[in-house]
Amino acid sequence: MASARDIKSSKDVSSLNTSQNLGFSTSPNASFQSAPSSQGGSVFATPIVPLANAKHLKPFATEDIKVLLLENVNQTGREILSKQGYQVEFLKSSLPEDQLIEKIRDVHVIGIRSKTKLTARVLKEARNLIVIGCFCIGTNQVDLQYAAEHGIAVFNSPFSNSRSVAELVIGEIIALARQFGDRSNEMHSGTWNKVSNKCWEIRGKTLGIIGYGHIGSQLSVLAEAMGMSVIFYDVVNLMALGTARQVPTLKDLLAESDFITCHVPELPETKNMIGQAQFDQMKDGSYLINASRGSVVDIPALIHAMRSGKVAGAALDVYPNEPAGNGDYFNNTLNTWGTDLRALKNLIITPHIGGSTEEAQRAIGVEVADAW
Ligand SMILES: NC(=O)c1ccc[n+]([C@@H]2O[C@H](COP(=O)([O-])OP(=O)(O)OC[C@H]3O[C@@H](n4cnc5c(N)ncnc54)[C@H](O)[C@@H]3O)[C@@H](O)[C@H]2O)c1
Repeated sequence: MASARDIKSSKDVSSLNTSQNLGFSTSPNASFQSAPSSQGGSVFATPIVPLANAKHLKPFATEDIKVLLLENVNQTGREILSKQGYQVEFLKSSLPEDQLIEKIRDVHVIGIRSKTKLTARVLKEARNLIVIGCFCIGTNQVDLQYAAEHGIAVFNSPFSNSRSVAELVIGEIIALARQFGDRSNEMHSGTWNKVSNKCWEIRGKTLGIIGYGHIGSQLSVLAEAMGMSVIFYDVVNLMALGTARQVPTLKDLLAESDFITCHVPELPETKNMIGQAQFDQMKDGSYLINASRGSVVDIPALIHAMRSGKVAGAALDVYPNEPAGNGDYFNNTLNTWGTDLRALKNLIITPHIGGSTEEAQRAIGVEVADAW
C-alpha cells in the first residue's frame, strides 16, 4: 500500500523524535502532521515544502475586500467585520433585483437575511463574489447549486434562534391552556370575563412534538421541567432527552397528545402534514401549535376543527403566504381564509416572530460574521 506523505521535508522529519512528534492533532493551534508509518520511522519518498515556506491561508488584505450587508443585519455582526478592516456597506432593507444586480457586481462578500433572493440570474453578475453570509437559519433564498458550482461559500446559522422558538412555544402552551389571549383581548375592549371552565394546568399533560431537531429537543427539556410528559415523532431514530419517548408513527402521537407542536422542515412530505385526517385522529379538545413553516398545517382544515370544538385552541406563527414587510397585510388577499381564521376563539396568531429575539439576532450576527 502507498505510504502517506507529510507536509514537512524529509530532512525536517528525520530529525524529529517520532514517538513524540508524529501524531495527529485536532488542536487548531498545533501544526498538522501525518500519521506515523507502521514501522514508526520516516516514510517520505520526496522532499516537500519546508514549513518556513508554507503559504499563509490569507491571500488578501482585508481592506481590499468589499462587503455589502443588506436587510439590517445585526449590529454586532457589522462591527465584527468593520473591526477586521473590511470595506463594509450597510443597507437597512433588501434591494429589488435590478438594484441588487448593480450592487453585487462589485462586492466580494454579501450578507443577507431571508428576503434577498440570490438567484442564478443575480449571482451570474457577481463577478468578484466569494462569500454569501445568510444571517438567518435557512438558505433557500440562495441558489446553492449555482454557488457550489462557482466556488462561492455560503454560511448560515442553523441553531442560533432555536431556543427563542422553543420559549415562544412554551409560552403558547400555557396561554392556550389558560385562554389568556382571549381574556386579554376582552380586557382590552373593556370586558371583565373571569372564567375557569376548560382552563387547565399544563402539569401532567402530554406534549407531542413532531420533528425532534434543534427546536423540538430544546422544547422537550423545557416542557418536562414544567411537569409535562413528552412524546415525539421523527422520521429519524433519535436519542430522547430526559424521559421523553419516541413514538413510531404520527398517528400514535396524535392519539396520545394533549398539545401537539410542529417542528419539521418545509419539504414535499411535510406539506399539509396536519390536515383533516390528522385532526380526526387527535383527542377531543386538544391544542395545536405551528411555529415551523406555513405549509405544514392545512389552515382551512384547522378552521373546521376549531369550529367543531375538536381542537380547543391553536397558535400559529407561520403561514402559507406571508407579507414582505410590516403593515395591515394579514387579510383575505394574502390568504383567502384570513377573515375566518382571525374570527376564531383561543387562537394565538403571531407574525413569524419565533426566532425574533435580541439574543437570537445577535447570535446569528456573531456566528455568520465570525465564519468568514
Ligand atoms: N417560527 C420561526 O421563526 C422559526 C425559527 C427557526 C426555525 N423555524 C422552523 O422550524 C422548523 C424546525 O427547525 P429546526 O431548527 O428544529 O430543524 P431541524 O432540522 O433541527 O429539525 C427538524 C427535524 O424534523 C425531522 N423531520 C423531517 N421530516 C420529517 C417528517 N416528515 N416527519 C417527522 N419528522 C421529520 C428531522 O429528522 C429533524 O429531526 C423548520 O421548519 C424551521 O424552518 C421557524
